[in-house]
Amino acid sequence: MSNTLFPNERAVIGKEMDGLRIEDVLGRGGMGIVYRAEELMLGRQVALKVIDPELVRNEEILRRFQAEARVLAQLSHPNIVLAYALRKTDLGLYIVMEYVQGKSLAQHLRAHGPMKWDEALPLIRQMLSGFAYAHEHGIVHRDIKPNNIMLTPEGQIKIMDFGLAKVLREDGGGMTRTMTRGGTLYYMSPEQVKSLKHVDHRTDLYSLGMTIYQMVSGRLPFSKKDSEFTILKNIVEANFPPPQSPHAALPPHVSQAIMKSLAKTPEERFADAHEMLAAFENRTPPKPKPKPEPPPPREQEVIAETTVISTSAFKSHRPRTFTKERSVEFVPERRSTRAAQRRAKKQRETRMLYAALIVGVVVLIALVITLIMMLV
Ligand SMILES: Nc1ncnc2c1ncn2[C@@H]1O[C@H](COP(=O)(O)OP(=O)(O)OP(=O)(O)O)[C@@H](O)[C@H]1O
Ligand SMILES: [Mg+2]
Repeated sequence: MSNTLFPNERAVIGKEMDGLRIEDVLGRGGMGIVYRAEELMLGRQVALKVIDPELVRNEEILRRFQAEARVLAQLSHPNIVLAYALRKTDLGLYIVMEYVQGKSLAQHLRAHGPMKWDEALPLIRQMLSGFAYAHEHGIVHRDIKPNNIMLTPEGQIKIMDFGLAKVLREDGGGMTRTMTRGGTLYYMSPEQVKSLKHVDHRTDLYSLGMTIYQMVSGRLPFSKKDSEFTILKNIVEANFPPPQSPHAALPPHVSQAIMKSLAKTPEERFADAHEMLAAFENRTPPKPKPKPEPPPPREQEVIAETTVISTSAFKSHRPRTFTKERSVEFVPERRSTRAAQRRAKKQRETRMLYAALIVGVVVLIALVITLIMMLV
């Protein structure tokens, strides 16, 4: 990766910038480098994904990243990595997100080999819960693969990089390039390979099906010797063999559910994440829910001249300016705090009104009694 921001990616470790202290490199992917950092003001750990400048060549892509990041910031689910902010500074474009302790599912599978079905099922439940939530909010991941799924030491699943693929894919070729770089063509759905314009949530169900295939069998239905062309051709045309577990034979409904997820057309797959989970749990799917209203526009979204955590608070480094469209901070906690403050104020006012009324009534009664006594 030719990164003008960090020509030597470790050179920034220990440095402070934009209210953050860079602590370590967490990994590298098709989009750039991921660092662990500490948000100095809050003392919390975050992950910074610094986007390769080659991928953000023009203002249009930057604008789309910002639009997508706004949507991502609406997502709040225990199985989805939270996006806190997208910042564009003179240092480059980076996403500040929740830091997840643990390993990616890819690392876990490399270290421990294929999973037994009863180990895999609780993880699949969490993944599908995250998908059901995101899909109901109109967000499709488009780049599901074991590298983008984190597993914490407590067994919690966290899906990373929701929606980022959309921006690069719309750029035409950007996505295929990042997928090729990351060696992750294997999880692309047939409609993605065909570059169909409208891919929907069922593309995620396909990629998850391929991920589950690998989780339980320890392999993918491709040969390591396959060229990129053969991989793409097989995704579109080949009939994949059913997954085989090296542990106890997979229950037939599991094997069938995986194969249904890998159907060549979206119509042949599960209608949604709920139906897919029901198939893996071998039960009748729930009735589909009516489509929810799209989320309301955000009340408190700060698009600021400077970031909320201002660099000038830390005299040790050079204060930077951010142009209006270039720095977007997402502060959902603040929005709820403001709403709570408004509610508390209203309650205080109502209490004061009641108190005034009671005092008034008491004074009135006292006056009437005094008057009666005087008359008597
Ligand atoms: N929020 C996070 N918390 C902790 N570690 C992370 C986080 N995001 C990424 N990482 C680490 O950084 C590595 C690289 O992530 P990145 O998303 O850049 O690459 P990738 O997932 O391998 O490929 P792609 O760019 O196609 O998504 C991950 O494998 C993971 O180990
Ligand atoms: Mg990733």
